[in-house]
Amino acid sequence: MKLEQKQAKLNAIAKRIMNREIDIDLAKDCLNPVPGEGNANAELMFIGEAPGAQEDKQGRPFVGASGKFLAEMLEGIGLKREDVFITNIVKFRPPENRDPKPDEIKACMPILFEQIEVIRPKLLIFLGRHSMNVFFPKLKISEAHGEMIKTNVQKPDGSEFEQNCLPLYHPAAALYNGSMRKVLLEDFAKIPKLLEIIKK
Ligand code: URA
Repeated sequence: MKLEQKQAKLNAIAKRIMNREIDIDLAKDCLNPVPGEGNANAELMFIGEAPGAQEDKQGRPFVGASGKFLAEMLEGIGLKREDVFITNIVKFRPPENRDPKPDEIKACMPILFEQIEVIRPKLLIFLGRHSMNVFFPKLKISEAHGEMIKTNVQKPDGSEFEQNCLPLYHPAAALYNGSMRKVLLEDFAKIPKLLEIIKK
């Protein structure tokens, strides 16, 4: 698919999210929906959990403290935010930053899969256990982080495609935890090599 075509499709998906077309209370109650943003041709697509206060205010993903850390890590591997695509499983802020509920995650899944299908990133990167568990319900982030795995993503028409994935600790969890931060930085540094392997 051409870049302009991909961008048009992503814009149409974002519009549905902005119009709060997902039938959950969060969609009605949040300040601003957060569809996600970045390069429609991104090789890397990052999936976080749900918008926080800053994201809700600005309608953009990862713009608070954990977003700053994510941008630093991207810079460390020679990338900018604009080079990748960043989104969340849940597109609307849960009140008081509580964890998203299973029915909220379920309601947001189809539109996330649509975004993945348009972008078709080389590597889908889960930021934290909530994001990983949507695709791999049985895995523990403490064991699965930093190891590339494959899954099948289901398209709206029911057919599937294979997708390389990488679970990482969530930047917010690692921000103030010295040992977790070290592990996250080490895992993040593996990304260029993994991309090389995938492209071979
Ligand atoms: N944490 C997330 O999981 N997503 C955001 O967009 C911001 C913080």
